[in-house]
Amino acid sequence: MSSAHSAAALPMTVRRSGPLKGRVRAPGDKSISHRALIFGLLAVGETRVSGLLEGEDVIRTAEAARALGARVERLSEGEWRVQGVGVGSLLEPAGTLDFGNAGTGSRLMMGVVAGHPITARFDGDASLRKRPMGRILDPIGLVGATTVDAAEGKRLPLTLKGARNPVPVSYETPVASAQVKSAVLFAALNAPGQSVVIEKEATRDHTEKMLAYFGADIRVEPHGAHGRKITLTGQPELKPRPIVVPADPSSSAFPIVAALIVPGSDVVVEGVMMNPLRIGLVTTLLEMGADITETNRRIEGGEEVADLRVRASRLKGVVVPAERAPAMIDEYPILAVAAAFAAGETRMNGLAELRVKESDRLQAVADGLAVNGVPHRIEGDDLIVTGAATVRGGGTVATHMDHRIAMSFLCLGLASEQPVSVDDTAFIATSFPDFVPMMRRLGGDLT
Ligand code: S3P
Repeated sequence: MSSAHSAAALPMTVRRSGPLKGRVRAPGDKSISHRALIFGLLAVGETRVSGLLEGEDVIRTAEAARALGARVERLSEGEWRVQGVGVGSLLEPAGTLDFGNAGTGSRLMMGVVAGHPITARFDGDASLRKRPMGRILDPIGLVGATTVDAAEGKRLPLTLKGARNPVPVSYETPVASAQVKSAVLFAALNAPGQSVVIEKEATRDHTEKMLAYFGADIRVEPHGAHGRKITLTGQPELKPRPIVVPADPSSSAFPIVAALIVPGSDVVVEGVMMNPLRIGLVTTLLEMGADITETNRRIEGGEEVADLRVRASRLKGVVVPAERAPAMIDEYPILAVAAAFAAGETRMNGLAELRVKESDRLQAVADGLAVNGVPHRIEGDDLIVTGAATVRGGGTVATHMDHRIAMSFLCLGLASEQPVSVDDTAFIATSFPDFVPMMRRLGGDLT
């Protein structure tokens, strides 16, 4: 398989473009796509998936599922079939599970392996090797898994020995992270009795919803002001169910913001997943005065979705509260781009988690704004951007192997006075392989 991390860098330049027009649909949700393959592996029998995101991150998870015993086949575009082995029956993988750039795939699969009496080696690209894995290794250790070896600072590459007799856990996540929560739930799945996971801030709930959908006994209750308590009964027999993957709101964010900042634009972004734990960006943009109208709200694949009509708007700066961060954690880079064109200051509070994404996104965003003449500052974990009707542009942005940094600054260049370059677009293929053609279809000048 060709992969971004072994390929040469693909720089790109984008120029100020005429009004963006048309209807687009983002690819399948990345979070649900990873989980679809994992649930397929953990159910006994055949799980059919449609609308799977065929980005490099998800393909790595498909390969890992195969290495752990599933038969995984691509039938046609987005249509996949997984023949699972069931909770408790995973095979020990013959080789290293290489997750490339994929934090979600690697961390969720560590949870899966942790509850099984197998040993697996995990690795990834230079970006993934920098990311903290202690947040996963520590709680799955409570289930009985042991970290045989790991790179300094509990990082990849690492070898994980799953528990022979996994024990149920009661665990409160120290950071607001759906990856940590999900890894613990997967690890506890093969333990007898009830496990409890508490999160102080509710994060995306796809794992919980899919556990219930596949027949596990799971209860979710409110906990404190913004949190949740999840109680899971282990050792279920998961029953295969068809999965329809809705469009990814985090990918939809790029055409949405591009349409807002390019004068005269009028774009419909179809089928955007409106799960309240994913849609903080749209809430924020509406507060900034964005002209976004929602039509055709419906259910797709167990999630509410809607078509969003987005027209170019004069935005104004707002304060984005820290409590909203989990519902838009991947959208701050593109929000910073919207903020560059908004009148006055936009203050984004509580962005500590951005430092441990595919890149240090707080710094990467600040540097990208700096080279394009956008005034901003970092105060502690907060980012403050001072916007204006015009943005100079003219900079070359360092993307640091981060797909969302690349896509965000390509959007900035669609509306800035001078062309914007990004040093490498190869990693866009991890989550949104059709991004550049889609933006061109809307009228974007990307070369
Ligand atoms: C994800 C959770 C988030 C998000 C990532 C996908 C998931 O990470 O940034 O892109 O699918 O669970 P954290 O849980 O580390 O915040």
